[in-house]
Amino acid sequence: MIRDIVIYPDKRLKEPSAPVERFDEELHTLLDDMYDTMIAKNGVGLAAIQVGVPLRALIINVPVETDSEDPHKQQPKENTLEVINPVLLEAEGTTRYQEGCLSVPGFFEEVERYKRIVVEYQDRYGKRYILEDDDFLAIALQHEMDHLDGKIFVEKLSILKRKKFEKEWKKRLRGR
Ligand code: CO
Repeated sequence: MIRDIVIYPDKRLKEPSAPVERFDEELHTLLDDMYDTMIAKNGVGLAAIQVGVPLRALIINVPVETDSEDPHKQQPKENTLEVINPVLLEAEGTTRYQEGCLSVPGFFEEVERYKRIVVEYQDRYGKRYILEDDDFLAIALQHEMDHLDGKIFVEKLSILKRKKFEKEWKKRLRGR
């Protein structure tokens, strides 16, 4: 089921999310709904707080190469990485990438991230894993993990770019 996305500057996006303690049907429904919502909005990642649920859960689905225009084929459900209670174990280097966010629709800007990260997390059943990446997945994970701490990527812009963004965003919100 598609849920409503919380749009910047909604205060909920500033709230730190709580650890998931119950790996139950409610969590599984949340994760399934997050996938449906992310696909409907053409996103590659989504944190639970973005659908208004303050839990440390996020999903990422990096599109695969295909001739199909169908997002369900580009981002099959079985390719969805479900990350619960992630902890950053290691981080090194820096990289820059143009990011976007379903809570700030239509805005894209380059921000700095760690190049390589190692993260410990749990799946929807509570099983623990360790993941290492130094590519797109590492960037997406850092973006989504920030959401769990009440942080959003526009806060990483330079002061000038941030001011410009806030001005344009206010104008855009008024026009909605
Ligand atoms: Co985001």
